[in-house]
Amino acid sequence: MAKITVYLSGSIAAYKGVTVVRGLQKAGHEVRVVMTAAATKLVGPATLNALTKYPVLTDLWNDQDQPIPHIELADWTELALVVPASADILAKLANGIADDAASTTLLATAAPKMVAPAMNRHMWAAPATQRNLAQLKRDGVAVIEPVTGRLAEGYQGHGRLPEPDQIVSRVQEFLRAHELLAGKRVVVTAGGTREPLDPVRYIGNRSSGKMGIAIATAAAQAGAQVTLITGQVSVPVPHDPNIKLVSALTTEEMLVAVQTAFKGADALVMAAAVADYRPVEVASQKVKKTADHGERTLKLTETVDILKTVAASKRPGQQVVGFAAETEKLLDHAQDKLTNKGADMIVANSVAGHNGAFGQDDDQVTILQPGEKPERWPRMAKTAVAQRLITQLAAKMK
Ligand code: CTP
Repeated sequence: MAKITVYLSGSIAAYKGVTVVRGLQKAGHEVRVVMTAAATKLVGPATLNALTKYPVLTDLWNDQDQPIPHIELADWTELALVVPASADILAKLANGIADDAASTTLLATAAPKMVAPAMNRHMWAAPATQRNLAQLKRDGVAVIEPVTGRLAEGYQGHGRLPEPDQIVSRVQEFLRAHELLAGKRVVVTAGGTREPLDPVRYIGNRSSGKMGIAIATAAAQAGAQVTLITGQVSVPVPHDPNIKLVSALTTEEMLVAVQTAFKGADALVMAAAVADYRPVEVASQKVKKTADHGERTLKLTETVDILKTVAASKRPGQQVVGFAAETEKLLDHAQDKLTNKGADMIVANSVAGHNGAFGQDDDQVTILQPGEKPERWPRMAKTAVAQRLITQLAAKMK
């Protein structure tokens, strides 16, 4: 059972927040409440005080005995749930603004956070709100999406808070998921490596880093301490207190970073697209065009196979997961990689056609494990693939 701090903010749906508090208590959780000034206009703090048997934090300055009440509460919290979350509190949380009791306590909370937005549909659709939400998701905040229904304004629209029992179920689900990898250390690589030719040129690939980043985020949400090692990525990296970021642009740098992080880890997921060859020589000055207009030959040498190297020296119980990006004979090639690289699991995906899976938001993968039949998953969002993969990995790590 968790220690949950519920934040009520200024949305008409604040009354539903009271029922959520009751629901969480019924499910066995210990609940304390913080309210914004606007929320206190909609619901009486006395009600929540009576329900929780705790003082409701509404102001940082009105308790002489407890000069920094927000830090005590932030440290106590195991899950922070903002319900309903107004556009204002989302904006504050996304931007680190701490100008009242609620926003300051939220910022001081290192525990996982969930937000359940509720607002007018135009406020929901506003580019600023959507920008803030995207930022919050990158920061590892779980969003309970609003639903379409009758809004307080009297018309139908998107922005309605889901029913309190649905919110309680989502919290229960989140807490269960958070237990999956509690106490585990997971290393994830993402993006593509770059092998330099000279100070301005390199050999690279089309990997965006989306899949690796989604896996790192899912692992952190499952309670793991994550090291995310990134090559070149074209999407923003997460800023999650449970994700340590390490940059490694070349295969050699990535090998060192992976070996270092994997020593104390329980699992490695190699989602990065790693170069198989690098230039034999790297020119110290920019290579100039010659007058002969002729051909040029690049001499390449093989790089180290990071996955294979790490898998060969893993401790019992350590899990090594690789990807297989193929343009043809997907299963045959993926099966070969599973055997040759000594991986515990290969996630095979097709990169055939223009761009393949590169840069896309969704993916269709097949999971291969030693001694098991390949398991074809339906096409789904990369974030969903990541969550399912983490659930599967957690089961293997039990
Ligand atoms: N990989 C690695 N080190 C390398 C090359 C690949 O660790 N030098 C990892 C990738 O991160 C991925 C898996 O091996 O998890 C398979 O990568 P992929 O590019 O599909 O296969 P390759 O081994 O490079 O083989 P090929 O290019 O012949 O398909």
